[in-house]
Amino acid sequence: MTQRAVCPGSFDPVTYGHLDVIARTARLAEEVIVAVGMNMAKNGLFRPDERVAMLQEACQGWTNVAVMTFDGLLVDFCRAHDAEVISKGVRAADFAYELQMAQMNRRLTGVDTVFLPTAPEWAFVSSSLVREIATLGGDVTPFLPPAVAEQTVARVAAKLRESTG
Ligand code: PNS
Repeated sequence: MTQRAVCPGSFDPVTYGHLDVIARTARLAEEVIVAVGMNMAKNGLFRPDERVAMLQEACQGWTNVAVMTFDGLLVDFCRAHDAEVISKGVRAADFAYELQMAQMNRRLTGVDTVFLPTAPEWAFVSSSLVREIATLGGDVTPFLPPAVAEQTVARVAAKLRESTG
């Protein structure tokens, strides 16, 4: 597909759905940068450095994948890192918004986006649903790598303790 592709996202936390897209991109591109957006990280469950650490652990089997944070516009990050393509997993429900962002990003600097249809087994998984399920005491282990599931359950419990004093 290309020499260097960027897989951007919030990854709060990284799910098996994200990892499927990263793995597929790593087969299509020579190098992949997983880019954790800092703009949206302010009120997240995990700090950006924690998201990066979880991603690094989850991606350690792929030698052509690096994990970084980015601030500001994604297109500027792509340009600064000589990445020709943005790679995004898309679910049917997100398609209109993802298309709009892809078209805007192309208009801004010419960087193109490839969409990888989310694997059916992960099509219903999202970080926001995982956070909600964990907060309400449900089992999130089918959707997250074991270390991520453990940290998610612990963080949700700590936040609940904080909020109830
Ligand atoms: O995990 P998400 O929520 O799908 O990630 C969204 C992300 C980080 C890819 C998107 O919000 C983004 O690119 N933010 C960076 C700011 C930016 O470039 N905005 C203009 C988009 S056209």
